[in-house]
Amino acid sequence: MDELKTNVLYFGDNLEILRKYIPDNSIDLIYLDPPFSSKKDYNIIFKEATGERSEAQIKVFSDTWTWDKIAERTYYDIVQTAPPDVATLIDALHSVLGNNDVMAYLVMMTPRLVEMHRVLKDTGSLYLHCDPTASHYLKLVLDRVFGPTNFRNEIVWYYRGAGVSPKYFGRRHDTILLYTKSSKWVFNLDEVRMPYAEATIERFKHYIGNIRNGRDFGIQELNPQGKHPDDVWEISIVAPSAKERLGYPTQKPLALLERIIKASSNEGDVVLDPFCGCGTALVAAQKLNRRWLGIDITHLAIRVMSKRLKDSFTGIEFEVIGEPVDVAGARALAHQDRYQFQWWALSLVEAQPLGEKKKGADKGIDGVITFPDERPTRAKRAVVQVKSGHIHVKDIRELKDIASRNAMGIFITLEPPTREMQTEAVSAGYYHSPLWERDYPKIQILTIEELLAGKTVEMPSPNPPFPKAQKIPQKEGEQMAMG
Ligand SMILES: C[S@@+](CC[C@H](N)C(=O)[O-])C[C@H]1O[C@@H](n2cnc3c(N)ncnc32)[C@H](O)[C@@H]1O
Repeated sequence: MDELKTNVLYFGDNLEILRKYIPDNSIDLIYLDPPFSSKKDYNIIFKEATGERSEAQIKVFSDTWTWDKIAERTYYDIVQTAPPDVATLIDALHSVLGNNDVMAYLVMMTPRLVEMHRVLKDTGSLYLHCDPTASHYLKLVLDRVFGPTNFRNEIVWYYRGAGVSPKYFGRRHDTILLYTKSSKWVFNLDEVRMPYAEATIERFKHYIGNIRNGRDFGIQELNPQGKHPDDVWEISIVAPSAKERLGYPTQKPLALLERIIKASSNEGDVVLDPFCGCGTALVAAQKLNRRWLGIDITHLAIRVMSKRLKDSFTGIEFEVIGEPVDVAGARALAHQDRYQFQWWALSLVEAQPLGEKKKGADKGIDGVITFPDERPTRAKRAVVQVKSGHIHVKDIRELKDIASRNAMGIFITLEPPTREMQTEAVSAGYYHSPLWERDYPKIQILTIEELLAGKTVEMPSPNPPFPKAQKIPQKEGEQMAMG
């Protein structure tokens, strides 16, 4: 295995990435916020250029687990190859729970937690963010992987919110389990002290005696740096209207990640988030001058995260590993997962993906690029179709039909187009832009090979596909370079 690279986003399954790229004892802090087995689908909600909520929603990832062939196979792998304590626990849980969805979830999580334990330094810490759906089972697994004596805290992240069922108490917290790899670990108490309550400050304005068992321990004073924080944290969720919000489902507040990173790592340390979503942990790490690694299996997450990092930090440098870099790689991705291929291909032209439930006129479209033209007016649209398989001239005729109700049509294909298809595209003529006072080909065919070589769509300057993240000032001190 090569040396550890940092400030890297990996696109792929974290189990494979951990095994392939992350050496033993190389990470100082792991924060993971995996799907919780909540049986929900999570949609990204796009915003229009005006900042309004758009119609377009797309299922980014699903949190429904079923006992299938992969779960069965992984279960046997764990029983045969995992550390004996872990194998015995999983076997025991399986005999109690059977082949059900919770067991499928635990079987997915277990080998990943074993890998995370391997890559953590001896002084490292792991924070597993989950909720009461599966936290009790995950704690059993973590006790086996890390050892029960290395359990440090069960942090309750409490948040306020509306929408409570009248049938039980409001469910208003997530659980964050903190384990360390050994009995020696980093805990920067002074970095995370909290303000004292007003009542405490008031009480301490007067002399407070401290006599215990007849002995006088003298005057008690408050610590000028603040109070020792406890394990219940009240931090607001990222509200739908908050500037911090990017539309990515399950986005966690930056304040939560900052507290974790300040408490359990030092400047220059390496922070890993193997389920990183829109990258809150990475943004917090960058802000606090830590090095970082993020992994996500969803290309949209990689895209949202890359943009978020670039928008937040001027001149930031990082690498993305795992995206196709040639036609063979693109073909492999298309073969493995058609949706991920489509989202990746759309990213090459900066198009916004459309969800699966497309209505009427948008049927057959995979993405859109909007651009302002003719002020003042609504944005114009270029519609985008992505094909990874066999293509035919009738595909171009269909796109021409859809494009006739829009400004332009873009056809992205893995296979090269035939001459007949090119002729059909040319016959569509031009879109005239009043704002730029020029013509653009109405239908444009671009191959993946051409896009990878740097070819771009000919069109007026487009609107950004995702909201812009706010600039974040980086902590003063040495700025971390890629390593
Ligand atoms: C709950 S979200 C994380 C949200 C993140 N904490 C944030 O603030 O944006 C979970 C993420 O895990 C990703 N994921 C699920 N299974 C994965 C796997 N096997 N490997 C890598 N990422 C995975 C999903 O695509 C999703 O983006």
